[in-house]
Amino acid sequence: MTDRVTIAPGRLAGTVSVPGDKSQSHRALMIGALVEGGVTLEGLAPSGDVLSTAGALRTLGATVELRPAADGNLSGRVEGPLTEAVDVIDCGNSGTGLRLLAGLVAGVPGLAVLTGDVSLRARPVDRVMAPLRALGVDVAARGDRLPPLVVHGGRVRAADYESPVASAQVKSCVLLAGLAADGPVSVTSPLASRDHTERMLRHLGLVVTTVEHDDGREEVRLEPGSPKGRALGAAGDPSSAAFWFVAAALPGGPARGITVHRVLLNARRTGVLRILRAMGANIEISNEIEAAGESVGDVTVTPGDLQGAEVAGGDVVDAIDELPVLALAGAASDDGLTVRDAAELRVKESDRISVLASQLGALGLTVDEFPDGFQVPGGQRPRGGRVDAHHDHRIAMTAAIAATFGTGEVDITGFDAVATSYPSFLDDLRSLGGAVVEQR
Ligand code: S3P
Repeated sequence: MTDRVTIAPGRLAGTVSVPGDKSQSHRALMIGALVEGGVTLEGLAPSGDVLSTAGALRTLGATVELRPAADGNLSGRVEGPLTEAVDVIDCGNSGTGLRLLAGLVAGVPGLAVLTGDVSLRARPVDRVMAPLRALGVDVAARGDRLPPLVVHGGRVRAADYESPVASAQVKSCVLLAGLAADGPVSVTSPLASRDHTERMLRHLGLVVTTVEHDDGREEVRLEPGSPKGRALGAAGDPSSAAFWFVAAALPGGPARGITVHRVLLNARRTGVLRILRAMGANIEISNEIEAAGESVGDVTVTPGDLQGAEVAGGDVVDAIDELPVLALAGAASDDGLTVRDAAELRVKESDRISVLASQLGALGLTVDEFPDGFQVPGGQRPRGGRVDAHHDHRIAMTAAIAATFGTGEVDITGFDAVATSYPSFLDDLRSLGGAVVEQR
C-alpha cells in the first residue's frame, strides 16, 4: 500500500460497504480455532491485523484457510487443535491480536512468546499480565510491562478479577483464558465495553452472564467449557464506517449524504452515531437484522447544523476508536467538541491525543490537549498542509477526511498504516467522489 497520498477538497456522497469488523474477525479466528472440527468463516476483514492473527494461529498449530470473496472480505475456515507454538508469535501491529492471544495461549500447554512491530512493542501488556497472574498463569515481559510477552500456558485457575480499565481487550483476555480454567472466572470493569467475545461464546453454547451494576461497573462471568458450532463471521466495521459517517455529517455536504451497508450496530460500538446525532447530524438506520447474536443494518448519514458536544465516561468507551475523526465534526460545529476520560487514547497505535493535536494543527486546526482528552473549538475549517500519520491508521484516515472538507490539498505520509484495518479506503474514497490527487 501507498506510503504517501495527496487528497484535494471535495464533498463526498453515495453508497459504500466497509470491510468486516476487525474485533469480530480476530475473535472468530481465535474462538473458531477452539471448536472441535473447526468452523467456516465469512466476512472477515482483509486487513493486516487480521492476517497477523491468522498467522499467529498457524504458529500455534491451527489450520487457517482464507481467500478473498467477491465483496473483498475473507472467507474460509479455521481448525485447531492449538498446540505449543513452534516459534515466537508475531502479532504485527495488532494490540487486540496480542492481548486476546495472551488469554487464548494461557489454555494451551507449553511456552508462548508474543511480540509484534515497533509500535506494538511500545504498547503496555501489564494490563493483561495482572489478570493472567490472578488466574494462576505464569507470565513475564520486558520490564514486566512491554512485549515480548511470555506465557507459560496449560493451567488456569478459577478467579474473580477486577480490572482498573474499561478495556474489551482485557475482558476478552480473561474470558478466553477462562475457557480452560478449573472453574468459573469473572471479570469486572469500571464501565461496560464492547461485548463481541461474550456474544460469540454464547452463540457457541457457553454460559456467559453479564451484570451491569448501579455504579456503572460491568461484571461478566463465564463457566469454562468448549465452544460448539459450525460458522462464524463479521459484519461491516463501524470503526471504518465512522470516517464516512463523519464526512457525511459535515455541514455543506451533498444533501443525499452517505449510506454504509451492513454495518455492525452493537450499542457498545455505535457511540459515534449517538454523538453525531446529539450534535445534530441526521442518521437513519434501515434493513436491521440479527446475525449470530449481533445486530447489523444500513446506516445513512446526512448533514445537519452541528452543535457542540462534551463526551466523557461510557460514551468514550463506546467511541474510543472514532474520537480522532469526531474531532473534525467538533471543528465544524458551532461550539466545539470536548473529550474527557479518554487517557486510553495515549496507548493506542500512537499517542492519539498528542498526534491528533499536532497533525490537525498542521492543517491550521486548534486542538487543545488534556492529559485525558482534548478540546476542539468550533467554527474551524482545515486548510491544506502536510500530515505525518505516525504510522497510525486512524490518524491517516482522519487526515484524509479533513482534506475533503478543507480548503487545500493535504499531503499525508505514513498512509501505509491504513492497510492494518481498511486496505480499500482510497478506492472507497474515490467511489464517493473524493479526489486522490497523487499516490506514491
Ligand atoms: C478492541 C478494543 C479496544 C479498541 C481496539 C479493539 C477489541 O481497545 O480500541 O481497537 O477488539 O477488543 P481496548 O479494549 O484496549 O479499549
